[in-house]
Amino acid sequence: MTHQTAIRFLLNGEEKTLTDVKATQTLLDYLRIEQRLTGTKEGCAEGDCGACTVLVGRLYNGALRYETVNACIRFLASLNGCHIVTIEHLSGPNGRLHPVQEAMVEHHGSQCGFCTPGFVMSLYALWMEKPEPTETEVETALQGNLCRCTGYEPIIKAAFAVNEYGTPAHDYLNAERENLLAQLSAIQPEGRIETGPADDRAILPHSAEDLAQVLADNPKATIVAGSTDVGLWVTKFMRPISPVVFVNHLEDLKAIETSEDALTIGAGVTYSECEAAISAAFPHLEEYWNRIAGWQVRNMGTIGGNIANGSPIGDTPPVLISLGAEVTLQSTKGQRTLPLEAFFIDYGKQDRAQEEFVASIRIPLPSEGQIDAAYKVSKRRDEDISAVAAGFSVVVENGKITSANLAFGGMAATPKRAAKAEAALVGNRWCSEAFEHAADAIAEDFTPLSDWRASADYRACVAGNLLRRFYLEHDNSQGSDADMPVRLAV
Ligand SMILES: Cc1cc2nc3c(=O)[nH]c(=O)nc-3n(C[C@H](O)[C@H](O)[C@H](O)COP(=O)(O)OP(=O)(O)OC[C@H]3O[C@@H](n4cnc5c(N)ncnc54)[C@H](O)[C@@H]3O)c2cc1C
Ligand code: FES
Ligand code: FES
Repeated sequence: MTHQTAIRFLLNGEEKTLTDVKATQTLLDYLRIEQRLTGTKEGCAEGDCGACTVLVGRLYNGALRYETVNACIRFLASLNGCHIVTIEHLSGPNGRLHPVQEAMVEHHGSQCGFCTPGFVMSLYALWMEKPEPTETEVETALQGNLCRCTGYEPIIKAAFAVNEYGTPAHDYLNAERENLLAQLSAIQPEGRIETGPADDRAILPHSAEDLAQVLADNPKATIVAGSTDVGLWVTKFMRPISPVVFVNHLEDLKAIETSEDALTIGAGVTYSECEAAISAAFPHLEEYWNRIAGWQVRNMGTIGGNIANGSPIGDTPPVLISLGAEVTLQSTKGQRTLPLEAFFIDYGKQDRAQEEFVASIRIPLPSEGQIDAAYKVSKRRDEDISAVAAGFSVVVENGKITSANLAFGGMAATPKRAAKAEAALVGNRWCSEAFEHAADAIAEDFTPLSDWRASADYRACVAGNLLRRFYLEHDNSQGSDADMPVRLAV
């Protein structure tokens, strides 16, 4: 069968058709080296600093959605059918500054200037969606941008002032939205795309069914969704990953469905896409979600990727396990579903055959008397990986604990439940003694490692204290007034 071999996208105001695109070619290298669009900077090349921030517009539920992404870890081939907008596109006739740029100049938001294009693009995305942002919205928009010079205050002042210099409705991306939508609709692929040289091949399947076939034919292929993990394998470790199967464009993996008893999220859904559905179904996850990476990474990274990579310090597995989530895997043989906790077998080993892909996650909705909490402890608040993450889900009936799911990340080789601590709670009344015993039992459940994120002692102490905190935070609702001392790490 012949497949389309060209990648098509819009770059600023121009349509591009590229053949023989290497799977591992990053968007940043393409912009800077091939297109000489050097306004987009390279700082860290690992998605951390935001200097490379650009906007990507893509079709989503029939509309055109623009989001910030990190060009350094985004592969060009994954942008088929998208609109890439760089800082160069912001300047108006005769070099007139864009309202965001004017605000940055007027409020002294730039010193050495290296981070500035990235900040401008993040503020541009914010201004289009929220012309009069709240403090929290500004903080969220800038989570993924680092500046070493300004101290942030002038940039934050600029963020609040952008609207004084222009109206989003007049901005090119809004004013031309209908035309851009039509242009992008016209370049959507009609079948599978295969491009790039044999040693760096990119495959973009046409559907989930086609993805299953591609994996059956290429069992050693690397699946790439948001590339927020895989991007670093390439930019930092130069790891060969060919052939690469991109899945981030597949509508089949993007469904978000709420039924009477569960929320089901497609594996290709990004953190940003499911933020509203997650907060609505599980209010305790709203703040936690905002602590996963930064804005750009949440616009790219998927839940499927977070689960499939099997990291012991991924943020979603502990909370999803505590909620009793199930994962569905798919291949040409069909689908199979298993409890998420059973998916993680050992460090680097998951219950997934080479030709299978993660299709979706089903999370049961909370039942009567269920108390849920999620905690993340990391060195920085934003854009940092957990030292310890925890998801707790406890059911209390008539003052008695009838079930307890206590899951941790960062405490073992896999995300894991604390079986002994759970046993110390179930059957007991909701009281400080039961939680104190359970917190002590965590020491029998885990033998954490020391690494540069945290020492083993610190992790063990934090895990117990998170359970104590859970008790104290929810104690009033259970009618007990017991006190409980929180222990200090040695
Ligand atoms: C700056 C930065 C900050 C970060 N902060 C956090 C954080 O706070 N918390 C956190 O948990 N993570 C964090 N991460 C890691 C990363 O963003 C997440 O793990 C993310 O969910 C990965 O999703 P992805 O779609 O980008 O996966 P990818 O990088 O595309 O893939 C990751 C792995 O999953 C596999 N894969 C992807 N989709 C599927 C599928 N459908 N079926 C089978 N296999 C699949 C890939 O082959 C690969 O092994 C951060 C990353 C960066 C760069
Ligand atoms: S260069 Fe730092 S995030 Fe891309
Ligand atoms: S102005 Fe220098 S890093 Fe931000």
